[in-house]
Amino acid sequence: MNDWKNRLNDYTNMVDAYLLEQVSDASSLQKSVIEAMKYSLTAGGKRIRPVLALEFARALGAQPKRVLPFASAIEMVHCYSLIHDDLPCMDDDDMRRGQPSCHIQFSESTALLAGDALLTLAFESMSRHCDFFAPEQVLEAIHELSASAGVYGMIGGQVIDLESEGKRLDVEHLTQMHLLKTGALIKASVRIGCILGGADDDYLKHASLYAQKLGLAFQVVDDILDVTGDAEKLGKPIGSDKGNEKNTYTSLYGLEQSKKIAEQLTEEALQELSQLRIRDGFLRELTGLLLNREH
Ligand code: IPE
Ligand code: IPE
Ligand code: MG
Ligand code: MG
Ligand code: MG
Repeated sequence: MNDWKNRLNDYTNMVDAYLLEQVSDASSLQKSVIEAMKYSLTAGGKRIRPVLALEFARALGAQPKRVLPFASAIEMVHCYSLIHDDLPCMDDDDMRRGQPSCHIQFSESTALLAGDALLTLAFESMSRHCDFFAPEQVLEAIHELSASAGVYGMIGGQVIDLESEGKRLDVEHLTQMHLLKTGALIKASVRIGCILGGADDDYLKHASLYAQKLGLAFQVVDDILDVTGDAEKLGKPIGSDKGNEKNTYTSLYGLEQSKKIAEQLTEEALQELSQLRIRDGFLRELTGLLLNREH
């Protein structure tokens, strides 16, 4: 296996093990919700957000295992967002990560609580396992995650997404929606890695621009896969966006133009990355992989 694929495997294995450890208490009165949290957390998923945090921190000289509680916290927030995103009151999707969505497997109330519990567990994880960093770095990282997940971040994007079903957004609003609902958490992942790695302002600026381009490209590809993807490989239904009359890049621009836009954004992301003068090619490879992914 290539070097970078080995590293990607190492990162995902670290994250998987950490997450599993956080939801292993099967004996408490709360075990039904813990079971639902575990069900969704351990169902796979690409783990790209924690991988970005771990790799940016590593590139700046921090030890990935010290960053793990923060990187895994981002995945907890992401996982909560998927559980809630699939609920009947949101996108009403029955499959996620190759298995019945959390509310199908358990119940709507359990899925709601499992999502809430994952969101709060993220902040517990970051504030409890933070001994290796300066208090200012820890606070800054916590601020990044809370702000990016909040009303002017991911939630803000989800609000636009839901409120614009059946209406037509212009390109500016569509872009804003994607930058928030998906881009914000991806950007926070990169920035948290940078903060814990001790990046200076110039580094943080270029890394943030890279993440913003990558985050937008990522959601454009997600829109494309909802049209062209294979539900089996994706692990979630296709055609969900059309069924819900969502605003997507493919609904506004069509398939071919959307592919070109995703390529262009990826190119721009790579240009920002080159400003950082990171010696090895891991992030370049990962960025390319995310453009050409099938799931
Ligand atoms: C899916 O995210 C939802 C979006 C924000 C586009 P991912 O494609 O990262 O989903 P997993 O984590 O691999 O399941
Ligand atoms: C997901 O957007 C955004 C969040 C979960 C925050 P989508 O609704 O397009 O994600 P999928 O396609 O269901 O994974
Ligand atoms: Mg959605
Ligand atoms: Mg959805
Ligand atoms: Mg989608």
